[in-house]
This record gives sequence, structure tokens and C-alpha cells, in this order.
Amino acid sequence: MRTAIIYCSKSGNTAKVAQAIASGIIGEVDLIHVNLTPEGIMLDWQDSFTFDLAPYDLIFFGGWATLMKIHPYLVAYIKRCKYIENKKVYGFITAAAIFSIGHTRDNLTQVLNARNIHMSDCFSVTTLLGLTLTMRKLAKARAFGRKVSLEVKKLVEKTDNIINWREEHGSILANLRQTKPNPQSI
Ligand SMILES: Cc1cc2nc3c(=O)[nH]c(=O)nc-3n(C[C@H](O)[C@H](O)[C@H](O)COP(=O)(O)O)c2cc1C
Repeated sequence: MRTAIIYCSKSGNTAKVAQAIASGIIGEVDLIHVNLTPEGIMLDWQDSFTFDLAPYDLIFFGGWATLMKIHPYLVAYIKRCKYIENKKVYGFITAAAIFSIGHTRDNLTQVLNARNIHMSDCFSVTTLLGLTLTMRKLAKARAFGRKVSLEVKKLVEKTDNIINWREEHGSILANLRQTKPNPQSI
């Protein structure tokens, strides 16, 4: 199973949450830092950057609250990314104040819905109260990553089993259909 964690971060909080989630994930994980203007211009280059989400089974979008909305750099990415259809998508948010979380989550949901993307769940962290709490919350972020990846891994394995079964037995079924006697000729 392969996971992409796509996030924007200015002062490092969302990056730490992204890394904590990554540490809980089972299988391969790519961390993709987004530094895109709302017009889609990249402000820095990194080798791991991609808009192509085809290789991934599980995708996390993470951003920080800016005036109670999800940061526009992440919005710019969501508008432009490719092959996200039928993927399992989760979110995470950091915000200074707890009252901003709901508004920011709603805004992220709207941005995703505009592309017909369903967000299965969203993890949120407030960042106002200092390092001790943040460490505890990072442990929760790791647990969130672990729980989600276990669920999605099971789904991926089930789907792979169905595909393998169809590949192995598809020709037998096709032969059976062809050799099935016509009831009118009996
Ligand atoms: C310009 C600006 C606007 C912000 N707006 C909000 C806001 O509306 N609500 C909130 O709770 N926090 C707000 N914050 C705080 C950030 O969301 C918070 O510190 C976040 O964890 C920063 O993430 P980062 O360290 O990954 O950049 C704002 C911060 C900045 C710099």
C-alpha cells in the first residue's frame, strides 16, 4: 500500500503533524510539501513533488487555518491534482484556536466536494497551548495515521483479492457462459 501526505506549512506545526501521521502509516509513505501560490505557481522545487496521485491508495491533505479557512496553497493543489477519483481521502488541520477548527474543516470539505472528493475523516490539532500538549497531540496524530492505514490496507487487500480472483477465474467463467446450453434447444 502506498500513501501520500500532502500538506502546506509556514511555521512548521502542520509539517510536524504530517510527519507524526507518516510515522504511524503502514507501507510506503511520500510526504509532499506544497508551496504553490493560488495561481498554481511553485515557490520552491522538491523532487518528491507531484500532482499525479495515481500511484497512491491513501491520500491525506493537511493545511493550517488562515482566517478560518484552509490555507490557499493547499486549495491550489487540490484544484490541480490528478487521478484522485476513487481514492480514500483524509484530512488534517492545525489552527491556533479551537473555534477555528470547525470552520476550517467545513472549508476543506467544500474545496474537496467541489472536485467530487469525499473526505472520510479529518484530524485536527490546536497549536496555541505549547510543547507538552503538542507532544501528546502528535502521539494522537500518529495513532490517527495508524488507524486509517490499517483500515485502508484491509480494503486494498480485499480489492486486490477480487481482482486476482477475476483474473484467475475470468476465462473459466467466460468458457462456462459460452458452453451454457440454450434452453430453447433442449
Ligand atoms: C496569517 C495567519 C492567519 C491565521 N488565521 C488563523 C485563524 O483564522 N484561526 C486560527 O485558529 N489560527 C489562525 N492562525 C494560526 C495558524 O493556523 C496556526 O498557528 C497553524 O498551526 C500554523 O501552521 P504552520 O506552523 O504549519 O504554518 C493564523 C496564522 C497566520 C500566520
